[in-house]
Amino acid sequence: MARKKLVAGNWKMNTTLGEAKSLAAAVAAGSTASAADVAVCVPYPWLIPVAESLRGSKVGLGAQNCSSHKSGAYTGEVSTGMLLEAGCRYVIVGHSERRHGLGETDAVVNAKAKAALAAGLRTIFCVGELLAEREAKQTEAVLERQIRHGLRDLPTDRLANLVVAYEPFWAIGTGKVATPEQAQEAHAFIRKEVSTLLGGTLAGSLPILYGGSVTAENAASLFARPDVDGGLVGGASLKADSFLKIVGAA
Ligand code: 13P
Repeated sequence: MARKKLVAGNWKMNTTLGEAKSLAAAVAAGSTASAADVAVCVPYPWLIPVAESLRGSKVGLGAQNCSSHKSGAYTGEVSTGMLLEAGCRYVIVGHSERRHGLGETDAVVNAKAKAALAAGLRTIFCVGELLAEREAKQTEAVLERQIRHGLRDLPTDRLANLVVAYEPFWAIGTGKVATPEQAQEAHAFIRKEVSTLLGGTLAGSLPILYGGSVTAENAASLFARPDVDGGLVGGASLKADSFLKIVGAA
């Protein structure tokens, strides 16, 4: 099944406002001929100015997190409605830095995924194992748990906006990229699990991105694998030239 590739940059907690605007403008200018979908997920306060930099381009704007609540007494949180109004088309939920650094559970990630899909956002739902889990041959058990709990009871009419990102924690920011074989194996497993949970048609059209030390040098060999439908890129998305090379590889 031919799936359109997606390359999303996750800027994490990086960039000044000036850097954000010029990086976004450079990505917008360099993506015009891309066959793949392209997005940048930027820090909350930069969403509106970056939306301006991206205006008229094919690059989608995304946030790195959202609240599962619509509004109310949730100090410091940002709702999906606010993200839409700020110009977002994408949101990342369940990034491993939030699961492991900030204690987000499968139930929390599930509530965010539901809220994001219900709002009509393209929802990049992240899964991935720790190094100790991989070494203990627990990778599939971890992915199965994250998918079964994280993707339960989703709004069925919005599933076309679901994207999964496989990000092995040991590969994030470490320079230790998964081999194309390791990525393909995990992605095929994820697709099988999603098929069991949400049906074969949805699983067949679901974009599954790889994330973790993707670079301009290794992107093409990862994206050549049949179940690798693009990338979620951290460090290499902070420089327009390396990010655009990755977009070009997709
Ligand atoms: P790096 O590309 O810096 O390893 O980060 C990956 C990531 O966490 C993207 O969400």
